[in-house]
Amino acid sequence: MRALARVDVAAIERNCAVLARAAAPAQLCTVVKADGYGHGAVAAARAAQAGGARWLAVATAQEALDLRAAAIGGPLLVMGALTASGLTDALRARADVVAWREGFVAAIATHPYGEGAGVHVKLDTGMGRLGTRDVAEAARTAAAVAAAPRLRLVGAMTHFATADDDPGFAREQLARFMPWADELRATHGDLLRHAANSAAALGIPESRLDMVRCGIAAYGMDPFGEDPARHGLAPALELRSYVAEVKRLAPGESVGYGRRFVAAAPTWIGTLPLGYADGVRRALSNDCDVLVGGRRAPLVGNVSMDNITVDLGPEPPPRDAEAVLIGAQGDERVLAEEWARRLATIPYEITCAISARVPREHHRDGVVEPLAAAAAGRRDGPGEDDGVAGAAS
Ligand SMILES: Cc1ncc(COP(=O)(O)O)c(C=O)c1O
Repeated sequence: MRALARVDVAAIERNCAVLARAAAPAQLCTVVKADGYGHGAVAAARAAQAGGARWLAVATAQEALDLRAAAIGGPLLVMGALTASGLTDALRARADVVAWREGFVAAIATHPYGEGAGVHVKLDTGMGRLGTRDVAEAARTAAAVAAAPRLRLVGAMTHFATADDDPGFAREQLARFMPWADELRATHGDLLRHAANSAAALGIPESRLDMVRCGIAAYGMDPFGEDPARHGLAPALELRSYVAEVKRLAPGESVGYGRRFVAAAPTWIGTLPLGYADGVRRALSNDCDVLVGGRRAPLVGNVSMDNITVDLGPEPPPRDAEAVLIGAQGDERVLAEEWARRLATIPYEITCAISARVPREHHRDGVVEPLAAAAAGRRDGPGEDDGVAGAAS
């Protein structure tokens, strides 16, 4: 395979089980937006549900439709802002939506597909993006939902800006959220108060409330950018390629655009046929290791669109040798967190950036999931008829 993202669905399932246990009695909502952070949304959703996620969340209405089309049932929340057509799609997918203005509540309540729609009201306690900062407006919005006979008031939510690197500010946000959420819950006994992302679910126990919304940790990446094993999490994704060509470089010879690597001593260079169009960011040029033959081989020269070059040293492995860019080989391991550190970014961006050109292969502890079964979906959700409608939450 030229380039392959291998995703262990059993790892996602186990990670979700770890998160569900840690969060209990709060429910687990697994965030599968952005194609499951690059892992494949449908496979991730199935694994999450098998691991104990009661809820799923996405960012866009189309993502909700895609899950329902793959027969994913169960409660589903579209967390992002919705245009008029986005609202239609979200409601067609029987997904819950987020509101923070009364006008939007009226649009849901009068929508042809609005019957039974679940609504979560969002208070902006410090993220500064979606939601209202005005507690009175949040209260009026929730009251409008509760008063609309066609709608269900399901949740009261907020989102943390700094749960990973400044828990103090996250606690301030929580303190702003709680009086309103608690007051609302006093009159709506089954209301779900939810605020925590992965970092908060793991690091701020009092923020777990009635539900946690975990994305990054479900995929076995550490929201704090360190070793996920310290939370009992294991990475689910490996990025692999192979050594398509080897050639000997004499001192003074170079590889790649711009001649950014010039051999100081005789060495063997391997060419791997994937590049920045596959998600190997160009900023990793001369600053990354690839596992070949169980050892770290430095990525040398510039990353090109379709190829990278690695320094294999004085004794090259055979052509066609397997190369692991993210994942383990022998006793060596490269985590997405390592790429993130080198690129001064977060691991989220690493797996989301693995492009559609890279096929995803889903396996369960090494046994490849049959393609047909993956495409058809396990029909373990409630009955579907039009390929879109799943369970309302
Ligand atoms: C509103 C909201 N909740 C929860 C999450 C999940 O965050 P994380 O992946 O850090 O767990 C996200 C992701 O960005 C989000 O936007």
